[in-house]
Order: sequence, then C-alpha cells, then structure tokens
Amino acid sequence: MRINLYISSRIEFAMRVEINKQSKIDAVDFDNLDFGMLFTDHMFVCDYKDGEWKEPQIIPYQPIAVDPSMSALHYGQAVFEGMKAYKDQAGEVFLFRPEENFHRINRSSERLAIPAFPKNYFFEGLEKLLALDKEWIKSGIGNSLYIRPFVFASQAGVQASASNEYKFMIICAPVGAYYGGELHVKIAEKYSRAAQGGVGYAKAAGNYAAQFYPTKLAQDEGYQQVIWTDAHSHEYLEEAGTMNIFFRIGERLVTAPTTDTILDGVTRKSIIKIAEHLGIDVEVRPVRVDEIIAAHAQGQLKEVFGAGTAVVVSQIHSIGYKGEKYTLPKLDNYMADQLKSHIMGIQYNELEDPFQWRHAVRT
Ligand code: COI
Repeated sequence: MRINLYISSRIEFAMRVEINKQSKIDAVDFDNLDFGMLFTDHMFVCDYKDGEWKEPQIIPYQPIAVDPSMSALHYGQAVFEGMKAYKDQAGEVFLFRPEENFHRINRSSERLAIPAFPKNYFFEGLEKLLALDKEWIKSGIGNSLYIRPFVFASQAGVQASASNEYKFMIICAPVGAYYGGELHVKIAEKYSRAAQGGVGYAKAAGNYAAQFYPTKLAQDEGYQQVIWTDAHSHEYLEEAGTMNIFFRIGERLVTAPTTDTILDGVTRKSIIKIAEHLGIDVEVRPVRVDEIIAAHAQGQLKEVFGAGTAVVVSQIHSIGYKGEKYTLPKLDNYMADQLKSHIMGIQYNELEDPFQWRHAVRT
C-alpha cells in the first residue's frame, strides 16, 4: 500500500495519508441510508502520549485494536462532536460553523480531564479527510455527510484516574434525515439526564448512555424520546432526547438558556439568531413544565420542536406528562418549517449568509 506524505502548506506539521485503494462507494445506496451506520473510506487518527499529541494520520477506515483494560471502556473518559458537511449544486463543499464544534470538543474535553486538541490538526485533518471522501457527499437538500470527531482515553489499565494516553479520531457517515415519522415525546418525571455541577453541558459519551434506559421505558409506552427536566425538581424543561428544545407559545419562541446541564447546541444558537433576524420574538429563559401544560390548555402552545445537528429541526407531535397525552395542533404555517428551511438554505449555499457561518472546504 502506498503512503503519501502530506505537508500542509499553511502550517508546519506532517500528516501521513494512506489512501484507501478499495473504495466501498460503488456499493452504497445513497437513497436508503440508515443514519450513522455506514462510513466513508477514510478516517483521521491522532494519538496523545508522553504529554503531547503525536503526528496525525489519515488512513483507510478500519477497526481499531484496543486493550481490554482500556480506560475509556471502564471509566467513560470520552467525548464527541457532531457536525455536517454539505455540497451545493455546483459541487462545492461547506461546513457549518465548524469553529463552534472545535471549541466545544475542547470544552467537553476539559471537563473530562482530556488534553485539548490543537486547532490546526483539527482543521487540516478534517479538510483533508473531506477532500479525500468528497464523492461521499451528495448535493441536494437533506443529503449531507455527518462528521463524528471523538476522543477517548486509550491507556491500558484499570486505575480510576485520568488517562495518560488518548486517541482523537474523525469518522464520517453519509446521511439523510435523522428521525422518520411523527415524534412523540414524554416529559421526564423520575430520571434525569444531567445535574448541576455535572457534565450535562459536555458531549460526554456517558450522557448518552444514561439516556438509553429511561428512553427505552418511554418507548415501551409508545414515545420515541424523553424531554429531560431539571434533576432537582423536574419542574423545568431542559432538552428533548439528543436535541435542544423550543416552544412556540402564541407567536413567541421560547427556549431554555444554556447552563451546566444543557448542551450549547450549534443548531440551537443558530435558530435563535435566525428567528431574531426574521423578526420573531425570542425568549431565552427557564421554561416550566406547568407553564407549557397551561399554554396547551389555553390553545397557546402552537409548536414544540427539537433542534440538533443530526435532526436539524424536528417537529414534536405530542407530549406525554403524568399519564396525559398533549397533542400539538395542526397548523397551516409552522415556525419550525420556516426556521428549518432558512438554516438549511444557509447550510446548502442557497441563501445569503449574513452571519458568515458557512465555511468553504478546499477539496
Ligand atoms: C447530534 O445532533 O450531533 C447529536 O448529538 C445526535 C447524535 C447523538 C446522533
């Protein structure tokens, strides 16, 4: 197998690039993709050892060997990101606010005692990976490449302390829409996703693992996701499944502020900015469960939707709470649709980008 040595023209480090000679792309049915189940031909890998990040590499996508005692498997010292690349009709590739993901993975890492990853490694590695796998990005609204940067404690040994070795990787999956069909969610009354002083604001792997059991219980009752409430009183609404959550009460758009229990979602903050730009009245403030139930009773709860990188914007059809099911009304015009088409218009280079969020990729 041929090894290319890649030296970036903009920065001073070497990155080994090994081209995959056996692309899987011809066997892929791009019209029937199962979210996040199929990955492109290459992956980015960088190891941390002896107090420093070593030379990054791009190699063919493949399984990795780990020691059974590896720290991340036992103590969950692992964080990740979710971002997407889009291709416009002219074939140009874009990222959406990638600096936000870069800074957030390092904020998550800091909370989990993982060393920060260098910015030039992140961006040069990501752009080279996208250049190599650009055929996997299909143009057309809804098609994208889901990018999963992640970092985990790779040291062997079961000592319960921060690892001295880590692996930072980026893998990519061609995707269509995340959720299909109607979304019914249940408000958490017993379990919680995050507690004050904890790791809720970080994209820590364990935050997701902790959701699986309560979500399974909700699924047994016919819901797909849980709306997480504050761990202390269960009186305030925080997130919906793996998404941030928005409520349309009358003509106002309401969402909870980011705290140490709520993820600082890139889609969330972009939706807030777009809504304000479109003249929508946005309130960022704590949202009480009883206020939402009362607004529903008064016919003022018009829409509830989740926002996240994977889903973009996902309309919620009904909410379960204390044994009751609250169905959202059918409307002629949904704010969620308006906001979704605006953000996607920017992402796919079909609308003006007044906020300079689009990042053109050198492919
Ligand atoms: C994302 O939107 O990137 C997420 O974090 C959802 C993911 C768990 C599939």
